Amino acid sequence: MSRPFSSGLKGRGKSATDGNPEDCCQLLCKSSVLVVGGRGLRFVVSSSRGSYPAFVIRCRAGVSAFLNICAHMDLELDWTAGRFFDSQRRHLICSTHGALYDPTDGLCIEGPCYGARLKAVEVSESCSQVFFSDDNYTLVRVEM
Ligand code: FES
Repeated sequence: MSRPFSSGLKGRGKSATDGNPEDCCQLLCKSSVLVVGGRGLRFVVSSSRGSYPAFVIRCRAGVSAFLNICAHMDLELDWTAGRFFDSQRRHLICSTHGALYDPTDGLCIEGPCYGARLKAVEVSESCSQVFFSDDNYTLVRVEM
């Protein structure tokens, strides 16, 4: 497990619906960066238990974010950095053993961890921007 570290970027515990999202959430990217079924944006979060890779993608239902840790084994999902979708661009797929996940809720629908879920990270979208808004984690950095 990675050693926890402090970024000085702690959120203030409000949601984007409490007012101006820029007052309470941290910017991940412009909305235009995330295309339905396209590349995801990787970022790193931390909690009292350590730091974790995470990612945000866009599917037909909107933006979703998860820890980048497969429910089967403690491995990152992406084939190459930011590539999370299968060839049909409908499901998230783990590059190691091919587990398929529903991109809306992280449920494994096929593969060795069938029925398990990716751990969701709360994000929000407002004013053509995507924000990190999860009180359970601290945003450490966004990987460009
Ligand atoms: S590590 Fe992801 S399916 Fe096995």
